[in-house]
Amino acid sequence: MKGIILAGGAGTRLHPVTLAVSKQLLPVYNKPMIYYPLSVLMLADIRDILIISTSEDQPLFQRLLGDGSELGLDLSYAVQPEPGGLPEAFIIGADFAGDDSIALILGDNIFYGPHMAEFLQESRRDLDGCVLFGYPVSDPERYGVGEVDEEGLLVSIEEKPAKPRTNRAITGLYFFDNRALDIAKNLTPSVRGELEITDVIRPYQKEGKAKVIDLGHGFAWLDTGTHDSLLDASQYVQVLERRQGVRIACIEEIALRRGLVDAEVCHRRGASMAKSGYGEYVMKIARQAQSAAPDRMAGAGATRKAGLG
Ligand code: DAU
Repeated sequence: MKGIILAGGAGTRLHPVTLAVSKQLLPVYNKPMIYYPLSVLMLADIRDILIISTSEDQPLFQRLLGDGSELGLDLSYAVQPEPGGLPEAFIIGADFAGDDSIALILGDNIFYGPHMAEFLQESRRDLDGCVLFGYPVSDPERYGVGEVDEEGLLVSIEEKPAKPRTNRAITGLYFFDNRALDIAKNLTPSVRGELEITDVIRPYQKEGKAKVIDLGHGFAWLDTGTHDSLLDASQYVQVLERRQGVRIACIEEIALRRGLVDAEVCHRRGASMAKSGYGEYVMKIARQAQSAAPDRMAGAGATRKAGLG
């Protein structure tokens, strides 16, 4: 499976903050927003990832993440000239995806929950059709909304319905088999003038091949769409990190614990940010991995201990 992070769009709801910088590069507490969806793909065991952004922002994402080798990833970049809708990710990313299945995640979606790695890997196993993730919200009219039967199969899906049939939002993480590429290629824009992700999902739903996994009480799916919700998301991360002494979406830590890089590489990256609390943390976990397995240095053992594997 390959991953695509869609990080384009104009971020108009966050103006003037996003007049000069991409929404997905804004900080969510102590790290750029894109670290959060990137960490989700890493935990799902996906290493080959395409980041789609506007042409102005592409050099900034490249400056931030490079070719991914420092994280044990293979990152590539593509441009979406105008925000023509989420399914454009499959059109722009067709060559990148080749014959593979695809995990699409929106660059502004933040997920946090227990045992994320096991949960995500289990969800993508034996993919037959598509897998979507549902989350109960108080304002479903702002999202894609899905009805589900007792077997967890999608029964209907609507984009931002005026009268939602349920309060289950379909979040911005999607696992699709390769057919999504063809479906996207043949779509026409909706009345909103965009290609709609719900139109990619509907053919799967009609065949009984759109599975919905509801994210339970222990999960957080955070909104970053408005000034207030962006600040709330930062404060949520701050509270958890301070209280628990852990880091959420620390991509260097995930790379280390999953054995994608060794402690030396991790430490070097931490040292390049040594003056920040984030850099200090990265160096600390690299040193811990080194002392736990001085001869091996790769942190596979620590992976299981931290529940990140
Ligand atoms: O967040 C989940 C929701 O995301 C889903 O429930 C909806 O079904 C889905 O349509 C989407 O709704 P949004 O209203 O959040 O879509 P928005 O246009 O705000 O785009 C979401 C992100 O994707 C945003 O960070 C910008 C980026 N984007 C969006 C479009 C339309 C792109 O990079 N390119 C695009 O063409």
